[in-house]
Amino acid sequence: MANTAARKPEETPSLRIVSDSRELALAAAETFTRCCEETLRQQETAAVALSGGSTPRQFLSLLAENASFSERMPWDQIHCFQVDERHVPPDHPDSNFRMLREALFRPAQVPRQQIHRIRAEEDDPQSAADAYERDLKNFFRLRPKQLPRFDCVVLGMGADGHTASIFPGSGALRERERLVVTERIEALQAFRITLSLPVINNAASVIVLASGGEKAAALAAVFEGRNSRSDLPAQRIRPAQGTVLWIVDRAAAAQLRGKK
Ligand code: 6PG
Repeated sequence: MANTAARKPEETPSLRIVSDSRELALAAAETFTRCCEETLRQQETAAVALSGGSTPRQFLSLLAENASFSERMPWDQIHCFQVDERHVPPDHPDSNFRMLREALFRPAQVPRQQIHRIRAEEDDPQSAADAYERDLKNFFRLRPKQLPRFDCVVLGMGADGHTASIFPGSGALRERERLVVTERIEALQAFRITLSLPVINNAASVIVLASGGEKAAALAAVFEGRNSRSDLPAQRIRPAQGTVLWIVDRAAAAQLRGKK
């Protein structure tokens, strides 16, 4: 049984509590934009990985449509990868890529060559995972066993404490080698394809978004070890050489005892 005691202060990830989902999207857009600006001051291109879900969607739409962000984002220097995908074609209503295309890629006119899609229309989800892993290895010019290092990864969190498509009790929690994993999620009766924890935790910067009272119990588990089952995926987001910032609204923070 994993230690469920409250985390030591030095281990507690950074937390920013804002009033509501709109403020959350604004804070996320500013944080993400600054991360890309700082990265592009140091290097020619940035590589980011974006999640699906309604909370990331609000942030992405703002990024594309609010001039105070969109005018600061040189998309021809930013490579956009997916964090995860459902095993559906890209025009399916459940497709994360469809959401990314509608919320960001189209309105921000992100050039096609900057977009790295998980080809989840493949009949065999393992083939889709393998193809995406090859894309990562090629793009990051990885040596064997080397991990890609994203400049910024944006995650959401489900009410069950899942993040990316890493669910409680899933085999992905134990993955140490692969960059991309796929498995059938019993709770969903469906396959998912996702970046693995080692890839996410190798990022320079991770931003995790959580909005709404239904996330409050999971958030208390992440920050205070309460309500937590041993394998809560969101508790495992700990970049080894990077930062993690949780941006949450008051409703999601409602069960935090030490909340600011
Ligand atoms: C997915 C996402 C998933 C999502 C969270 C939060 O494929 O669904 O990648 O990890 O980010 O479930 O989703 P909501 O913001 O819609 O609650």
